[in-house]
Amino acid sequence: MSDDKISINEAIDAALKLDGNPDNVRAFYDDWAQRYDIDTSSVDYNAPAISARLLQQSLADTDARLLDAGCGTGLVGVELGNLGYRDIEGFDLSESMAQRAHATGAYRQVKGGIDMMQATRSYQAEAYDAVLSVGVFTLGHVPPEALLVLLALARPGGLLVISTRTHYYDQTDFQQQVDELLGDGRIELLKLLEDAPYNKDGAAHYWVFSKLG
Ligand SMILES: C[S@@+](CC[C@H](N)C(=O)[O-])C[C@H]1O[C@@H](n2cnc3c(N)ncnc32)[C@H](O)[C@@H]1O
Repeated sequence: MSDDKISINEAIDAALKLDGNPDNVRAFYDDWAQRYDIDTSSVDYNAPAISARLLQQSLADTDARLLDAGCGTGLVGVELGNLGYRDIEGFDLSESMAQRAHATGAYRQVKGGIDMMQATRSYQAEAYDAVLSVGVFTLGHVPPEALLVLLALARPGGLLVISTRTHYYDQTDFQQQVDELLGDGRIELLKLLEDAPYNKDGAAHYWVFSKLG
């Protein structure tokens, strides 16, 4: 995808039309990595800043062990670093995105080539004080079941901070997945920001869950 073939909105629109196939998602983001920060900043993408502040409201300990799942180019890690968090790991399906996250210096470790749906093969279960995933629960990226994977990585009492684009929420069974986990006593909903800013083209819901048990 060369710069002369794609406009800012075409790239963002194309991301929403991905099919969830990890090979296609990886290839798309490998191509977009170089322009991702410029394009997202041009549409006032503020989900990373909102998510980092939400974490801070529920987890004041800046020594907490954090995992940024689908870290992209590291925008979330940078926001967390600005708030004083230092122990941040990140992973992403795309090596090119992950390399950029590594280059921010905000992360203790970044791994590329990790599919969230298989992340328990690469990361220790119940190891993290908080797992964040921002901009990933979006159409054509990961299914709502990815929540179960992230939950497995958080320690009991640990937090999940997740953004869901509103069209993702409306068109998937994310709420059903949440209701099952709530009903089974596996999570508690600490905070929900509904229809909050995401970028200038749309809104998102932001969820903070605590892992029970
Ligand atoms: C819209 S970007 C968000 C990146 C970053 N969290 C941010 O807020 O800027 C979505 C990211 O999710 C990653 N992604 C999509 N599906 C994934 C999967 N199954 N496993 C890991 N990462 C995935 C993409 O490679 C991409 O970097």
